[in-house]
Amino acid sequence: MIKKVSEILYDARKEGYAVGAFNVINIEMIQAVFTASQETKTPVILQFTESTMKYVGGKTIFHTIENIAKWYYPDVCFGIHLDHGKSIEIVQECLEMGVPSVMFDGSRREYEENVSLTKHVVEMSHSKNACVQGELGSVPYKSEVSSDIETWDAYMTNPDQAIDFVQRTGIDTLAVAIGNAHGMMKERFEPDYNRLSEIVQRVSLPLVIHGASDWDISRVQEVVSRGVSCFNVDTSSRVAFAQSLSKTFKASEEIEIDIRKVLGNARGAMKEAVKEKIQMFRGISK
Ligand code: G3H
Ligand code: 13P
Ligand code: ZN
Repeated sequence: MIKKVSEILYDARKEGYAVGAFNVINIEMIQAVFTASQETKTPVILQFTESTMKYVGGKTIFHTIENIAKWYYPDVCFGIHLDHGKSIEIVQECLEMGVPSVMFDGSRREYEENVSLTKHVVEMSHSKNACVQGELGSVPYKSEVSSDIETWDAYMTNPDQAIDFVQRTGIDTLAVAIGNAHGMMKERFEPDYNRLSEIVQRVSLPLVIHGASDWDISRVQEVVSRGVSCFNVDTSSRVAFAQSLSKTFKASEEIEIDIRKVLGNARGAMKEAVKEKIQMFRGISK
């Protein structure tokens, strides 16, 4: 059954684990996440981006998630969320469709503009009983940073600003930047754990780590023990899906035209990748 994202995260925090928020773009990926959730008996968040709304249609992705859950996974506890909404218009479109949780990503804007736009999104969303994730600091993309600490500093969340941001916007969850980055980045230095603890001392909301695809269990457990409740995963499940597609095509001399075999294998591979992440977020190594 569908549940409010903030409630899923508070419940997980109380029980000492974190929830995975997985990006999905098609039916097979949705099924992979739901099956992984069912097999691990763990709540999940399924999320989609503006690019996916452009690709398949916002209503298509949203209602497909809802319907697959209703018809085939009635026992699974899950949330649905817009990931990285970067404009008021895209958030509005989602709220009008009934999406129950949205991220407003104003992290690349000037601080005061991020505050006022996020606050506006919170007012719009709360009037429809939807919750809002804000972002302060900015989680970089792979091409933007390297291993030197100076470059990273510019992206980090300021703990004092975090409490001001939370109080002035009224958000429900906060995405933080503590050395995490989108994509696979082996060269990244250790996260700034002290900064995270300073944020946690000031902010009682559930905290979200974006860019969790390449985090190992020790990092994950360190930040969960310090108060993180949610990890966003996109790259590693996409890689599992894409590698399987490529393997199936390469396996036979003639191109496989039963696309169900190709996509079915990819769905299975992604399910395993998602299960591994869910277990990691619960503190279980494989
Ligand atoms: O951080 C978010 C996603 O990894 C970006 O995904 O290609 O669907 O915009 P997208
Ligand atoms: P990854 O690129 O590490 O999977 O991060 C995904 C993410 O943060 C989606 O919002
Ligand atoms: Zn992200």
